[in-house]
Amino acid sequence: MTRAPLTTALLAGLPLALAACEVGPKDIQQTGHRGTGMVQLADRSNLPGPDRIPGETYRDIVLDPNNLGEPAGEFYENVQVLGDLKTEEFNRLMIAITEWVSPEQGCNYCHNPENMASDEVYTKVVARKMIQMTRAINVNWKDHVKDTGVTCWTCHRGQPVPAHYWTTDPESMARMGMRSRRGQNNPDAMPAVYSSLPYDPFTAYILEKDPSERRIRVSGTSAYPMPGMRRATLMDTEMTYGFMMHFSDSLGVNCTFCHNTHSFSDWSGSTAQRAISWYGIRMVRDANENYITPLTSVFPASRLGPAGDPFKINCATCHQGKNKPMGGYSMIREFPELARLPVAAPAAVTPTTAAAPQPTDSAATAAVAVATPAG
Ligand code: HEC
Ligand code: HEC
Ligand code: HEC
Ligand code: HEC
Repeated sequence: MTRAPLTTALLAGLPLALAACEVGPKDIQQTGHRGTGMVQLADRSNLPGPDRIPGETYRDIVLDPNNLGEPAGEFYENVQVLGDLKTEEFNRLMIAITEWVSPEQGCNYCHNPENMASDEVYTKVVARKMIQMTRAINVNWKDHVKDTGVTCWTCHRGQPVPAHYWTTDPESMARMGMRSRRGQNNPDAMPAVYSSLPYDPFTAYILEKDPSERRIRVSGTSAYPMPGMRRATLMDTEMTYGFMMHFSDSLGVNCTFCHNTHSFSDWSGSTAQRAISWYGIRMVRDANENYITPLTSVFPASRLGPAGDPFKINCATCHQGKNKPMGGYSMIREFPELARLPVAAPAAVTPTTAAAPQPTDSAATAAVAVATPAG
């Protein structure tokens, strides 16, 4: 007669298991109007830990604004992008960069100690481009990074290769063949957060020069197809959802952080964070296209993906599970030299330091309108 209570106990437990209940305290934050279900639920036992901040090496260096030395571009031999810094600022930045990118390897990760001016170590060539990229993000993409800004640490966090990056998945490009997964149905694939959705939405949305917002948008705008209207396929839709899974996962939020789910496409019901993300998509595209891809021939084979492209940036590279990277902690406050572009650029600067294209299409207007919701 012991069986009955056991069965009862099992049956009683079943609904709990089926409902995937997570016991324990939750933090609840409302992100939209009451009754719209726009809330963020955070399981306290599952929250990401505190962010590491860089070591103390450069914090002890106090610059005397009246005694910063000569312009680095004149003092040193081969300074191509930081020529507007004074030598004292320049030296402090080198120490900081080492702390941010290669604290274990030291200066020699980028330099031949016999000849600091030499560009023979590939990482120095990469780092030069990275400095241009960081400045461009801080200056041209304030619509996204605000005054918080980014430094090398935002992505690198003390290691030469950031923890989160992506490369084109050759399988995702295969369209034919019985054995092809067509870039989806791989529960191990992190970008789709263990779902069956496409796991490389990045090549289409944050790499190609082709303005892809039309493909991200899949909802119809009229009841019936109109002549000349582009039709979204099921595959387009899956791709959008795969990308959105990456958004949520990278920021540690759910869909209602940006959308009112009664209509995902409707900008007027969306939060300001969706508009910020709209700029984010373009910022990431700019970084990948104009700074990382041009380095393809500089990287050794061990730093290229299976399709031969370098490791690139997505939302997770900076955000790492937080809605604001490092909880919104600003490091450019200490390094204003990374938040300005040289006024008179030295001749050797490549054209990519020029201002990034600013959004001009109607979506930008819509996006801005969201920041100040109009009814
Ligand atoms: C992550 C890569 C990286 C690390 C680490 C690094 N540097 Fe540099 N260094 C660079 C780059 C890039 C330049 C060239 C900057 C430019 O062209 O504007 C440079 C240039 C220099 C120059 C100017 C050389 C010349 O005459 O042209 C000096 C001096 C220098 N670094 C010192 C240091 C010291 C000291 C350290 C360690 C505390 C260090 N660097 C760590 C990337 C790095
Ligand atoms: C937005 C993110 C981001 C920022 C900001 C950033 N990097 Fe990078 N960095 C990357 C990615 C992604 C790679 C590619 C990893 C690879 O293939 O090595 C990379 C690669 C590098 C490498 C080559 C490392 C190697 O071992 O191959 C160096 C050196 C480097 N970055 C230096 C810097 C410096 C210096 C700064 C700040 C001035 C900086 N990065 C800022 C994302 C970033
Ligand atoms: C951090 C903000 C953010 C989060 C979180 C987010 N989205 Fe989005 N979503 C956007 C942005 C921005 C666009 C518009 C992209 C464009 O048009 O350029 C968009 C577009 C969409 C679209 C296409 C709408 C149309 O016009 O057809 C769908 C569908 C969508 N999201 C679903 C989701 C789902 C499902 C989730 C949760 C898994 C999610 N989103 C999470 C920012 C977000
Ligand atoms: C180069 C680093 C970097 C990358 C890459 C990046 N972001 Fe951000 N993002 C930031 C910074 C820094 C902030 C904080 C700005 C501030 O203080 O308001 C931010 C803020 C945001 C916010 C506002 C959060 C809030 O609580 O108000 C959203 C939403 C967001 N990012 C979405 C995205 C999405 C989506 C992507 C990928 C398409 C992305 N970000 C890629 C650096 C980045």
